[in-house]
Amino acid sequence: MSVPNHATASPEEAASKRRVLSGIQPSGDLHLGNYLGAVKQWVAGQDQRENFICIVDLHAITVPQDPVALRDNTRRLAAQLFAAGIDPDKTALFVQSHVRAHTEATWLLMCSTPIGWLERMTQFKSKAAAQEKVQAGLLTYPVLMAADILLYNPDEVPVGEDQKQHIELARDLAQRFNHRFGETFRLPEPVIPKAGARVMGFDDPSKKMSKSAEAQGHAVLLSDNATKITRVIKRAVTDSGREIDFSDDPERAGVNNLLGVYQAVTGHSPDACVADFANARGYGDLKVRVAEVVTEALAPITQRFDELMEDPTSLDQLLSKGAERARAVAEPKVQEMKAKMGFLPA
Ligand code: TYM
Repeated sequence: MSVPNHATASPEEAASKRRVLSGIQPSGDLHLGNYLGAVKQWVAGQDQRENFICIVDLHAITVPQDPVALRDNTRRLAAQLFAAGIDPDKTALFVQSHVRAHTEATWLLMCSTPIGWLERMTQFKSKAAAQEKVQAGLLTYPVLMAADILLYNPDEVPVGEDQKQHIELARDLAQRFNHRFGETFRLPEPVIPKAGARVMGFDDPSKKMSKSAEAQGHAVLLSDNATKITRVIKRAVTDSGREIDFSDDPERAGVNNLLGVYQAVTGHSPDACVADFANARGYGDLKVRVAEVVTEALAPITQRFDELMEDPTSLDQLLSKGAERARAVAEPKVQEMKAKMGFLPA
């Protein structure tokens, strides 16, 4: 299947739209949490907004990466995002390492980032605890993320709940820079969806669904077929009760998660979701129905993904056009930072 041409919006058109910037790591196939927490919002907003979506390969190397796997994962992620509905005519989808301004701005910001701010990040603490040796890049990871965001002056940063703290840090860094060198950055605002902001593992509903968890039955991936999706959801861990309702009780987190996934996929209100299961005979019925709606939502994505992967050259071309559009915004911004900080022009 061919992919559409990458047309650039006219400057007038782009100027009238709210700008969105978000990012995602190429560290394995997309899972349902990434899709419901982030990607679905990017796709839904792309008609009304000027979208920049960054595949953050430089973030991925903050933990060890096999070079062949990194290259493969970067292309697979691009194909999955296009398959999930990212339209290259409406969204500049690009690879972070293709836009040098990101690393340059990171250094500039890093030199005024207190180490204590980075050591406090909860994601650093949990990722560092899982590594035998912790590299400096894992600590400075949120500064690179701040650069990703600030270079584009976005109005909105749509993310899942786990990224909130990183965006607050980006805000603090923007404020610091503005205070010291004059108004340069807009303070970024996270946009977190009402449903799907924190999808939990199906094997353990106390843990966030994550790409790094290797347990069978943990995640549904966008590359999974109907059989696998159904198997994982049917085996989802729940409690021994029967009541199908949203709940904050940690004991009932499994049912809460299944219902949350159902809500995020169908777009029904919380009350309507509960009403949909009023006649259910138990959790078995809930699981069957959740597996059905998830399979229905993912089937066209999986099919299109397979088609896109057959033509890596077209994928690379789309990414290179996306990087061109990103550079046009990010390059002047990093030059502005440097000029304000007192660097001689090159
Ligand atoms: P990453 O690659 O871990 O995740 C990509 C997006 O998916 C969301 N997400 C989830 N949402 C709901 N439930 C889950 N279980 C779940 N797991 C992940 C994340 O919140 C995210 O929105 N540091 C970022 C990438 C990044 C970025 C940026 C994001 C780099 N630069 C600039 C926004 C702006 C990350 O590792 O996301």
